Amino acid sequence: MNNTITTSKIQCLDLKGQHRQIKQEVFDLFEYVYDNNAFSGGPFVEKFEKEFSAFCNTSFAVAVNNGTSALHLALLTLGIGPNDEVLVPANTFIATAWAVSYTGARPVFVDCTADTWQIDASLLESKITSHTKAIIGVHLYGQPFDVDAVKTICTRHNLFLLEDAAQAHGALYKNESVGAFGEMACFSFYPGKNLGACGEGGGITTNNENHYSHLLSLRNHGSKFRYYHDELGFNMRMGGMEAASLIVKLKYLDDWNCKRRQIAKRYQSEIKNPRIRLQYQPDWSSSVYHLFVITTPDRDQLINYLNNNNIFPGLHYPVPCHLQKAYQHLNYQHGDCPNAEYLSQHCLSLPIYAELQENDVDHVIQILNNY
Ligand SMILES: Cc1ncc(COP(=O)(O)O)c(C=O)c1O
Repeated sequence: MNNTITTSKIQCLDLKGQHRQIKQEVFDLFEYVYDNNAFSGGPFVEKFEKEFSAFCNTSFAVAVNNGTSALHLALLTLGIGPNDEVLVPANTFIATAWAVSYTGARPVFVDCTADTWQIDASLLESKITSHTKAIIGVHLYGQPFDVDAVKTICTRHNLFLLEDAAQAHGALYKNESVGAFGEMACFSFYPGKNLGACGEGGGITTNNENHYSHLLSLRNHGSKFRYYHDELGFNMRMGGMEAASLIVKLKYLDDWNCKRRQIAKRYQSEIKNPRIRLQYQPDWSSSVYHLFVITTPDRDQLINYLNNNNIFPGLHYPVPCHLQKAYQHLNYQHGDCPNAEYLSQHCLSLPIYAELQENDVDHVIQILNNY
């Protein structure tokens, strides 16, 4: 570690470096989309779908307009609707639960474990009722959840498994890429994700051909042939410009994930402050560190101290899903998901992205160790 003093602000995420690096390549492809009027769906979207399914090692990928739509359409494809219940983690971004609510089903929140901060498989069976149809496991912060443990329960109770892989493009569970452990896996290509579009985007991967063709119809007004509508559908197509940017970025994703892993490794081995707890990484998990989340007893104090030292951490997430105002009607109480509640009050996210400079990582580690 060197003792360089960093004077510029170190943000949790800064995309400027990434976009400078690939600007010409992306703009060249944008021009191509423009000249071909391929703005909605079309050849660039199809090319991205092929390349993304190959990346995830799945038979099919369907690109949509964002990750929330991906989850919504995946649930509809499974026939989930009113009177159904779907188990989801309390510790996730709210969109995991929104998708369940959009179908008319009810999200049932499950606490996370105290160390991995992922869905606690040992609690699932206590939440299953005769209405339960599916479990959505979230590979949160880029770290795979315990897929086998959750899958065992799905098999025992005849439930569908969906992966929410919005934060985990390229993450490995027992050396296999996320994206094919359940019926379908849903990704977000929001700009700040490990693979983020220049715009909004989402996608679903699957090995099931029936799901694949149903998803193609649902995202396109319930239509397989133009102006013939077989079911209530949506306009959730991906745009050509977004697909073009993703085609370029996908080529760099392994390299960017590798850089995130190197930064995470440094944080894990060099942060020695006992007031800072890191996320436990089981040996079967290979995270892509979308976020590097820590906990600390007095978060406000640590945030002030970091800010005074030009470090601006993120906060993922300050309110767990079951205590959000929008879900008040479900009558969850403080204490229902204690680990998720603890995290919401004590977590913060350290700067991590591929272009983060070595001396900035030095600075973050040094400042945290001096705290
Ligand atoms: C875990 C999780 N699920 C779902 C989503 C929804 O994705 P999007 O923002 O693309 O709709 C996100 C992204 O924000 C997410 O982090």
